[in-house]
Amino acid sequence: MTEPRTTAEAASPTGERLSAISEGAPHDVAADRPRVVLGVGGGIAAYKACELLRRFTESGHDVTVVPTASALQFVGAPTWSALSGKPVSDQVWDRVHEVPHVRIGQQADLVVVAPTTADLLAKAAHGLADDLLTNTLLTARCPVVLVPAMHTEMWEHPATRANVATLRERGVLVVEPAEGRLTGADTGKGRLPEPAEVFAFCREVLERDGETGRDLEGRRVVVSAGGTREYLDPVRFLGNRSSGLQGYALARAAASRGAKVTLVAANTALADPAGVDVVPVETTAELREAVLTAAAGADAVVMAAAPADFRPLARSDAKIKKAEDGSAPAIELEQNPDILRELAAERSVAGQVVVGFAAETGDATGSVLDLARAKLARKGCDLLVVNDVSGGAVFGSPDNEAVILEADGSYVEVPHGSKGALAHAIWDCVTARWAAV
Ligand code: CTP
Repeated sequence: MTEPRTTAEAASPTGERLSAISEGAPHDVAADRPRVVLGVGGGIAAYKACELLRRFTESGHDVTVVPTASALQFVGAPTWSALSGKPVSDQVWDRVHEVPHVRIGQQADLVVVAPTTADLLAKAAHGLADDLLTNTLLTARCPVVLVPAMHTEMWEHPATRANVATLRERGVLVVEPAEGRLTGADTGKGRLPEPAEVFAFCREVLERDGETGRDLEGRRVVVSAGGTREYLDPVRFLGNRSSGLQGYALARAAASRGAKVTLVAANTALADPAGVDVVPVETTAELREAVLTAAAGADAVVMAAAPADFRPLARSDAKIKKAEDGSAPAIELEQNPDILRELAAERSVAGQVVVGFAAETGDATGSVLDLARAKLARKGCDLLVVNDVSGGAVFGSPDNEAVILEADGSYVEVPHGSKGALAHAIWDCVTARWAAV
C-alpha cells in the first residue's frame, strides 16, 4: 500500500505567520495582530467598507483606514476614525515626522482597497502617487487586494481591462465585481461583493501568504456545489442534504489564490463568494449543462456537488392530488447522467484535471480506501476526495476530514479541520498535477 503524503496547510493554520511578526519585539498587543490597510476609493460602495472594517477589527486585526479625498465625500473621516480607533488622513502632509506615506505600506501584512474605482485602478497600474493611498500602494510589499466597484461600462472599457491585466500580471489580486443592482436603477457587473465575502477573501489571502501566494493566477477552474432537486410536480422534489459548504470553500480558496472561478451552485443558501462567477441551477440536467459549458477551456473541474442519481420518469405539470381511496402514487425513476464520468471521458483541454468526491463507508467487500480506488477507476477522474462517513455524515458541518486519492493509488490524508483547509489541500494536489504534466 502507498504511504500517505502530508499537507503543509493541514498542519499549519493561520497562527505561524502572525506570531512571527512579533518575534523578538517587546510584547505589544497591537504587534501580535495582523496589520491591515483598508484603502477606500470614492464610490457609493464606500459605505459597505464600514462593515468590512468592523469585521476586521472585531476579529482582532489592526486596521489603518486610508480613504481618498473622494471617498471622504461619501463617508467622513470621523466614521473611519471611530470604527478603526485611529486617526485617519487621505494625504501625505499629516504627521509628516512619522513618514506615513512610506511607513503605512511597509508595515502592512495586507492592503485591501474596497471599493477600488476605475481611477484608482488606473493610478495603481501606472504607479501614480498623489495621495496617501496611492503612495501606500507603491510602498506595500505584502499582498494587495483590489475590490473594484463601478458601472459595467467602466469595468468593461478597454482602458480598465488593460489596467486590470497589468495589475494581475504584477501579482495584485483584482477581485471580479459581482453582478446585480448598481447605483441607479441599472443592473450589471460592477457591484462590490458582500462585505462578509470580501472579508472571507482577505482572510484566505492573509492565511496563505508565504505559502502558495497567487499560484492559481491565470488558471480557469470550475467547481460544482450543493444538491440537485428532481421535481415530481411544481412543488415537490427529490433532493439531498448537501449544504454546498465544501464547494463554496473550494471556490473561495481558488479565487484567493488568483484563479478565475465559475461556481455552479445547486440549491444552496449561501452568499456568493467574492470574485467568483456563480451559476445557479436546480436539477441534475441543469447542473450537467452548466458544468459542461463552463468546463470548456477550464484547467480544472471539481465536482463537489451531490447530483441526484435518479429523477422521476415524468414530471407532472399540475400538483399531484391525493387519491380518495387512500392509495399513494407509484413514482417511477430513471437514472441521471453521471457528469463526473462524462467530464473525465471528454476533456476539452489537454492537462485538464478532473476531481470527484465520494462519501464512503467500508463494507464486507472492502475498506473505504479499496472502494474509493474502485470508484476513481470507474469514474476515470484524476483525484477523488474521499470522506469516510461511517461515523455519520458531514452535511452542513463547517469541518471535514478526507483522503485525497490519486489515480496512481497514492493518497494525501487531510486531518480533521475546516472545509477551507481541505479546499486548499485539494488545490495543492491539483497544482501538483499541473506541474507534473
Ligand atoms: N456525480 C456526478 N453525476 C452524478 C452523480 C454523481 O457527477 N449523476 C459525481 C459527484 O459530484 C461526485 C462523484 O460523482 O463528485 C461521486 O458521486 P457518488 O454519488 O458518490 O458516486 P456514485 O453515484 O455512488 O457512484 P457509483 O454509483 O458508481 O458508486
